Amino acid sequence: MIRVADLPTVNAALNLTAAILIGTGFYFIKQKNIRAHKVCMIAALGVSALFLTSYLVYHYNVGSVPFRKEGWIRGVYFPLLISHTVLAAVVLPVVLRTAFLAFKGRFPNHVRIARRAFPIWMYVSITGVVVYLMLYHL
Ligand code: HEM
Repeated sequence: MIRVADLPTVNAALNLTAAILIGTGFYFIKQKNIRAHKVCMIAALGVSALFLTSYLVYHYNVGSVPFRKEGWIRGVYFPLLISHTVLAAVVLPVVLRTAFLAFKGRFPNHVRIARRAFPIWMYVSITGVVVYLMLYHL
């Protein structure tokens, strides 16, 4: 049974899994392996959807969690947290559009938007893990 207190760790694991799937999916398309690219990217979408659900459940129950460390580390944590949060909101519709274009077979358009979606989605997933480590394990 997963308790609410366990959700931040679950969320970080989902973020890490998403980052690995996005990176692997990118590697596969560079190898021209379209089927494997598709599988990885759909899996990354699924994992990210699970993350979003679990993240909302956690913060609905707990509210916001303050960062209690003092000193220079705050100057690292807050820019990271803010860029992570803003880009997460920005990238969501971009990723959905990227996937939609691929499913419709509009691949030139898919590639154009995907080249922007890919690095931002990757950044959001990795900084999700870093923010978790700084907030709960420093
Ligand atoms: C939202 C998730 C996805 C992302 C972030 C993504 C990302 C990318 C990226 C970055 C490229 C260009 C690689 C390069 O620079 O050469 C690409 C190409 C491609 N993707 Fe995706 N992809 C996603 C989902 C899909 C899906 C679901 C499919 C299958 C239906 C697909 C099929 C393709 C194909 C066929 C290409 C090559 C197109 C061409 O070279 O003409 N992608 N994708």
